[in-house]
Amino acid sequence: MKKTAIIYSYRSVKTRQQVQKIIHQFGDDPIEQLDADSVTGDAIMPYTNLILAVPTWFDGELPNYWDELLPDLEERNFKGKKVAIFGGGNQRDYPENFVDGIGIMAQFMEQRGAKLVGFTSTEGYSFESSRAVRGNEFMGLAIDVENQSALTDSRIEKWVLSLKIAFDSKK
Ligand SMILES: Cc1cc2nc3c(=O)[nH]c(=O)nc-3n(C[C@H](O)[C@H](O)[C@H](O)COP(=O)(O)O)c2cc1C
Repeated sequence: MKKTAIIYSYRSVKTRQQVQKIIHQFGDDPIEQLDADSVTGDAIMPYTNLILAVPTWFDGELPNYWDELLPDLEERNFKGKKVAIFGGGNQRDYPENFVDGIGIMAQFMEQRGAKLVGFTSTEGYSFESSRAVRGNEFMGLAIDVENQSALTDSRIEKWVLSLKIAFDSKK
């Protein structure tokens, strides 16, 4: 597998647990961890595959650490890179903005040439609207530990299997 990094806030407890599960599912494939609170654009650009942890905060917004990192990525070219996005959300308390952060990040990366991978079905979730949806899929993996924690492990397992294929594919 090409050089792969997972970027997340080390301070974020729920996200950190999900990240450990994702890394575990990748098995022997090495995934480097980068702290979204301190990483720079220069440190991110050498990776071909990026897995971005983007929980949604503030009624449909990115967490502060992503807002602070994005200006450093704004002028960069992500062509040739594959980007997979996942993130926590709460479909019961925020049904109108469910996992919007995934959609915000997907748009940002796509506009800069990245190929998005790891889309998942919206089946099994219940919400009103989400910026993360394209067609009948999320543009990444939505994780809802507040309402559907029992589904998290199997969702991650399935997602990582799809990422292994997507990261290996020539397309
Ligand atoms: C103040 C606040 C605002 C939130 N806003 C949203 C939201 O707009 N949409 C959503 O899907 N989830 C929202 N959530 C739920 C979080 O995304 C969810 O709890 C997630 O697991 C947080 O992960 P983290 O603690 O690792 O950052 C919000 C949570 C809090 C505490």
